[in-house]
Amino acid sequence: GAAELGPYRHYMQKEIFEQPKAIADTLDAVETIGPELLGAGAGARLKNVDRVLILACGTSYYSGSTAKYWLESIAKIPTSVEIASEYRYRDSVPDPRTLVVTISQSGETADTLAALKHARSLGMEQTLTVCNVATSAMVRECALNFITRAGAEIGVASTKAFTTQLVGLFLLTLVLAKQRGHLSEAQEEQYLKELRHLPLAVQAVLALEPQVVAWSEAFARKENALFLGRGLHYPIALEGALKLKEISYIHAEAYPAGELKHGPLALVTAEMPVVTVAPNDALLEKLKSNLQEVRARGGELFVFADSDSHIESGEGLHVIRMPEHYGALSPILHVIPLQLLAYHTACARGTDVDKPRNLAKSVTVE
Ligand code: G6P
Repeated sequence: GAAELGPYRHYMQKEIFEQPKAIADTLDAVETIGPELLGAGAGARLKNVDRVLILACGTSYYSGSTAKYWLESIAKIPTSVEIASEYRYRDSVPDPRTLVVTISQSGETADTLAALKHARSLGMEQTLTVCNVATSAMVRECALNFITRAGAEIGVASTKAFTTQLVGLFLLTLVLAKQRGHLSEAQEEQYLKELRHLPLAVQAVLALEPQVVAWSEAFARKENALFLGRGLHYPIALEGALKLKEISYIHAEAYPAGELKHGPLALVTAEMPVVTVAPNDALLEKLKSNLQEVRARGGELFVFADSDSHIESGEGLHVIRMPEHYGALSPILHVIPLQLLAYHTACARGTDVDKPRNLAKSVTVE
């Protein structure tokens, strides 16, 4: 009801703004990095794995896709990510030394539960879920778990569940990195410091809302949008496109920016806004030349750039300046303005933001 919404227009907006608290709550019990974060017996189970298989649907699939970059670069563990509804029916090559990780806000998604069952039927017994509902079927079915503390999420489009999943998956990465000898004490301290500062960093990004509102007016008049990212921000571009589709009904797709020239450049006109996630990371210079390819074809760019990335506004190039680059945790900051962009665009189009047509909060049948 209206009382619960407080100053917010919709649950989705409220949940976007609850993210600093959701992240802080999720980190609350975390003092040092160790297997005890993942439940009883985790240390022994993790010794039996040398690869990770992530299974999920929807937004949870994109947090898993982001985690693959962390798991391979920080924990040096080979990782694959599969859409649950595909994995459950696919002939795959099982490896008993796999940690099967399901990701689910509800813990009740039928395809993800079935994919987990399928993995177990193939002899993979080391299972872990990153889940927001401690009493769910998923938590019961998995040997290990990390419970995110996002609180109840009501808006169909997932927001705070996604960012807390990323926090849980980053902690899993650190646990595996430490166990495998890839995390020094100094690095552990540094990552913990960055994690603890996250709620404040997210708060600073939420303060950009008025600038995003200004962009949403232009977006509300479009029927198509392209989202670009590179590296571990490519899944963030995918999540931004999904959010826009789900609630504003604008057709949106995401591409890794280096792949532009292999197809989507043909679509670029002034009628298709190109949203770009531009962190100041090792791929920034590559990304800048991708942006020039878009400008040269008359495309209009909307860029979320870290403040130290030296991308300036100009004709056909709109920039919202993010805080300084936040290292490995940067995806958690960069998804926030994409959530806000989808939200305000949907508001401008007058759609039913919290209950978009044809979609359900939790898909418990196939
Ligand atoms: C539905 C929801 C999405 C969610 C997906 C997976 O499609 O509308 O927001 O990401 O299910 O749900 P889960 O609860 O397993 O994360």
